Amino acid sequence: MYDFTYYAPTKVAFGKNSLSRLEGLLKEQNCKKVLLHYGGGSAERSGLLAIVRSAIRSAGLAWTELGGVQPNPRLSLVYRGIELCKSEDVDFILAVGGGSVIDSAKAIGYGLANDGDVWDFYAGTRKPAACLPIGVVLTIAAAGSEMSNSSVITKEEEGGDLKRGCNSDLCRPRFAVMNPELTFTLPDYQTACGCTDILMHTMERYFTSGGNMGLTDGLAEGLMRTVIANARILKRNPADYDARAEVMWASSLSHNGLTGCGNDGGDWAVHGIEHELGGLYDVAHGAGLAAVWPAWANYVFKDCLQRFYLFAVQVMGVRPSGTREGVAREGIRAFTQFLSGIGMPVNLTELGVSPTDGEYKKMASRCAAAGGGKKGSARVLYADDIEKILRNAQ
Ligand code: NZQ
Ligand code: ZN
Repeated sequence: MYDFTYYAPTKVAFGKNSLSRLEGLLKEQNCKKVLLHYGGGSAERSGLLAIVRSAIRSAGLAWTELGGVQPNPRLSLVYRGIELCKSEDVDFILAVGGGSVIDSAKAIGYGLANDGDVWDFYAGTRKPAACLPIGVVLTIAAAGSEMSNSSVITKEEEGGDLKRGCNSDLCRPRFAVMNPELTFTLPDYQTACGCTDILMHTMERYFTSGGNMGLTDGLAEGLMRTVIANARILKRNPADYDARAEVMWASSLSHNGLTGCGNDGGDWAVHGIEHELGGLYDVAHGAGLAAVWPAWANYVFKDCLQRFYLFAVQVMGVRPSGTREGVAREGIRAFTQFLSGIGMPVNLTELGVSPTDGEYKKMASRCAAAGGGKKGSARVLYADDIEKILRNAQ
């Protein structure tokens, strides 16, 4: 078991009436002017933005708006947001949306609180020293950005965009309003992508070769079982409030650090590979993870057999009989079947992506380079391993 720091400063207002808390939460920030940041239209169509504007007004605050955040949020909009906030003297950012909007808000917050090019923090050449405070009204259970220390931005580039993350406690939101009813309007595909991402945030922390803690394992296994059960319920009945609520709270707990306490920081190879797919092909994050995971798991599981065995038995309900390798394989098969069952792609073909030879190599080398030449903990992977996994995923 490793030493750890657990830091989860976000105040959470959760449930059907949580939006009524927004005005008070805004007042607590002691700010004067808010940037209201949102996505491509769902929050306007549902009437949510009208409620949020009214809460900002009632809190006695001025505000300016920037919508149009795309999934896989783009650096160009972040730059626009930084300029807008500078000219409008914004001192607080309210993100209304999912991971993409929240991450864009975090990047704008870094850009405002630090000199120089904000991309440096995503390229890993500098570390931020501050971030403007951020609040969240969450509309999709998925990325966990509402409590996480992470932000992922895509830089538009000739010949293939570059998707990169920046991790720092400075960007953890001050508050998050989470009303599971807001997720009723999600397309089924986005609900399933979200459930996949939530699971993966805990799985990346669970499949590790360094450091484990019984309590963390128990929390992680309970979270994974809960998300799997409720993802299946939502496939049948997207309007099930309780299932929406279970999944929404899991999204936050899966990525706020709780399910990694005592380990070595986790594996994160599947996320690293997805970031390359997201950059080159602009796929939905959860779908990209699902398309890569089976190939990754089959490639690494023998090097991390005990964890895959535990996952099979404790999470997927596989009977612990026969060889440990056989049980582990059965767990991988059962999880892959679960992903298919909720409508997720389980290979690149189903994801609708067919890389060229050059693209396989480019993704593999970029992915390894982002990790300083290697990725992973369950098994340490180099560029040639990552290329093999991507080709196996076809
Ligand atoms: O833009 P709008 O119109 O709002 O539509 C969005 C978008 O098309 C739609 N949507 C969201 N809430 C809705 C809704 N549609 C109907 N009703 C609602 N209530 O859903 C689509 C996806 O939204 P997005 O914000 O992109 O989803 P998600 O939360 O999955 O975020 C994905 C992004 O987060 C990053 C991913 O890489 C990706 O860029 N991640 C961020 C992390 C973090 N900051 O901690 C960790 C993750 O591993 C992940 O990398
Ligand atoms: Zn993720």
